[in-house]
Amino acid sequence: MDESLQEIKNQIQKLKKERNAVILAHYYVPGEVQDIADFVGDSYYLSKIAASAKEDVILFCGVHFMGESAKLLSPDKKVLMPDLTADCPMAHMTTVEDILKIRTEHPEAAVVCYINSTAEIKAHSDVCVTSSNALQVVKNLPNREIYFIPDRHLGSYVAGLVPEKIFLFNEGFCPIHQQITREDVEKAKALHPHARVAAHPECQKEVLDLADYVGSTSGIIDYATSSGGEELIICTETGVFHEIWKKAGHKRLIAPRADQICPDMKKNTLMKVLEALIHMEPEVELPESIREEALRPLERMLRLAQEGPHEKQ
Ligand code: 13P
Ligand code: SF4
Repeated sequence: MDESLQEIKNQIQKLKKERNAVILAHYYVPGEVQDIADFVGDSYYLSKIAASAKEDVILFCGVHFMGESAKLLSPDKKVLMPDLTADCPMAHMTTVEDILKIRTEHPEAAVVCYINSTAEIKAHSDVCVTSSNALQVVKNLPNREIYFIPDRHLGSYVAGLVPEKIFLFNEGFCPIHQQITREDVEKAKALHPHARVAAHPECQKEVLDLADYVGSTSGIIDYATSSGGEELIICTETGVFHEIWKKAGHKRLIAPRADQICPDMKKNTLMKVLEALIHMEPEVELPESIREEALRPLERMLRLAQEGPHEKQ
């Protein structure tokens, strides 16, 4: 390994101890950043880790809504991010006005908010979900009507699995997942006829219809490593390849497109991790006025994701 790279890693480990910090990383950040993290996971797993962290400092390598959720769940900790401009465009694809309008027109509807949203949007929602718990949380809600924001693809995927509920959708989407088309996947299948297809529910329905497995980033990694298939067509950000190859280096992984890369997640470089620990910034700040309200749907998600059917209110 490059000596300067090893030196950066050594300094990160040393400073992490001195600062009493824990490093969390999402599967889409660069592989070398995943390697120095204490915990790597999907949004649901990382939010649970953030909620129960014992350290004084959480250094969150991901996008802004993830750092913000960590701060909401652990308000007494200092939450740092390597780059505060790492943001998820989908988090901004709905507005408080959209929610208020639906609340007036459909007073019985539960506002179900994908965790990929701003704290302000969470503050106006009834419950949060992630891709790995959305189905269970929605099933456990007492409401028959569901207003699902902001991701229309995850929303319609869940709606298809819960036919007893009525869904209203928002127009949000993830640009990285939405660009993958049925043609892209069909081409990959033609070139690799024995490959199984694993897709994230942020993909379009036409892609999910071709998938052998649909799930969160952790779910895709588990499927890829544990399923018998030696070749897999992966319809999500290619950052997940790193963990799959760590667990099952022999698997052949195929991305239907060359641009399945989230530029915001890739802003989390090793150098910026080190700088954040040296300077103890940039820090995630939350306006006091929305803290309590934005925490409520996150805590309800953590509760409903663990409970059996039908929450008592
Ligand atoms: P996961 O919760 O599946 O890790 O997804 C997060 C995300 O941003 C997907 O694009
Ligand atoms: Fe947001 Fe898509 Fe990037 Fe995930 S991959 S953080 S949904 S832009």
